[in-house]
Amino acid sequence: MEGLTIRPETERDYRAVEELTREAFWNVYKPGADEHYYVHQMRSHPDFLPELAFVLELGGRIVGNIMYTKAWLEDESGARKEILSCGPLCVAPELQRRKLGRLLIEHSYEAARKMGWDVNVMFGNPGNYVSRGFVSCKRKNVSFIADGNFPTALLVSELVPGALDGRKWLYIPSTAADCCEDTAAVEAFDRSFPPKEKAWRPSQEEFYIYSHSSVVR
Ligand SMILES: CC(C)(COP(=O)(O)OP(=O)(O)OC[C@H]1O[C@@H](n2cnc3c(N)ncnc32)[C@H](O)[C@@H]1OP(=O)(O)O)[C@@H](O)C(=O)NCCC(=O)NCCS
Repeated sequence: MEGLTIRPETERDYRAVEELTREAFWNVYKPGADEHYYVHQMRSHPDFLPELAFVLELGGRIVGNIMYTKAWLEDESGARKEILSCGPLCVAPELQRRKLGRLLIEHSYEAARKMGWDVNVMFGNPGNYVSRGFVSCKRKNVSFIADGNFPTALLVSELVPGALDGRKWLYIPSTAADCCEDTAAVEAFDRSFPPKEKAWRPSQEEFYIYSHSSVVR
């Protein structure tokens, strides 16, 4: 696509990125959205990685962005490996399904590899990511919070092939997203944007299924 550029996010982009995030996530996973509040808050969280926050511009308008926090994998000896966790990632609704999400992942991966990162673990809709080399956490022996559970939506991507060596790992996410549990704060922040109608969408049921299921065999 002509006129596309990817560049690091700057402070001047913050509000535009929050507006884009709100538009892209609105009604996708629940009626309304809280990802724009998450984006707003995560920038001041210690696990946020500003050097891996990128915006995609088309004709001077921000039409996509990707952000990362730190997370951890812990092996059975208790040793921890610091890893990336991607998200939020979004593309303007009218430009989705044109491989712009792919572009953001590839661009940020290139930068992340140079910084020495080798693994990304995140929750996401597998349909958006399996063609980008993400695999079920079960294939890489990465379980969630000490319960031996392999959530369907927990996806693993090795930036460096073989970075995970078959050891048993526990995924320890950042606490950055916990801010969204404060629904009053989410609502108050949302009121600083133009009113938008909350509605049911089939994608919310898809999300329910993915987020309440595990890979068991
Ligand atoms: C998820 C999102 C970032 C993907 O970006 P995108 O630019 O739309 O996606 P891409 O065009 O790069 O395609 C990614 C993959 O999605 C799948 N996909 C693409 N078009 C599809 C379609 N019409 N139907 C179903 N799946 C499709 C494919 O697996 C595709 O890979 P492929 O091109 O190799 O076949 C974007 O759709 C978005 O912002 N969605 C709303 C917010 C969101 O859900 N963010 C992710 C949170 S986990």
